[in-house]
Amino acid sequence: MRRLSIALLFIMMLAPGCSDQQLDYPARQMPDDIATDEQGLQWAADTFRAKCAQCHGHESEGRGPRADFFEPPAPDFLASKYRTMDPAYLYWRIAEGKTVEPFLSRGSVMPAWGAHFSERQIWLLVEFIRRRAT
Ligand code: HEC
Repeated sequence: MRRLSIALLFIMMLAPGCSDQQLDYPARQMPDDIATDEQGLQWAADTFRAKCAQCHGHESEGRGPRADFFEPPAPDFLASKYRTMDPAYLYWRIAEGKTVEPFLSRGSVMPAWGAHFSERQIWLLVEFIRRRAT
């Protein structure tokens, strides 16, 4: 009996961690010419500074004092995993933000940008994030 409850506890602890693997977002293909669109990528860099850096940037980029208190926290995209992350996932997150599960239930403050940017603009932001990774 004791062994069973320990096993159950273990499964319950693992379950929330597993949900990330099962995220259900649409498959999308980044257009081939995004990576060579230098003018567009400059737009993405400027837009990141104006609209994203208050939460995702460094202090020198205008990171606001609020940013340190978000739960879950806003990543600064410097982690190398962002270079190899599925571009379709990043697209989905920028377009839908906190409006989709599990981020809604976790209390995310990430805005949904789908209504503000064109598809191409979102791809340019995705490519900018992939390049920001170190
Ligand atoms: C009000 C603060 C805020 C602003 C402004 C904001 N974000 Fe976020 N963002 C967050 C937080 C907090 C998270 C982490 C929680 C989550 O994943 O929903 C997040 C998550 C993300 C993720 C998912 C990261 C991951 O590892 O899953 C992407 C991509 C993203 N933001 C891109 C952007 C872009 C691009 C902009 C600007 C156009 C932007 N964000 C503006 C707060 C913000």
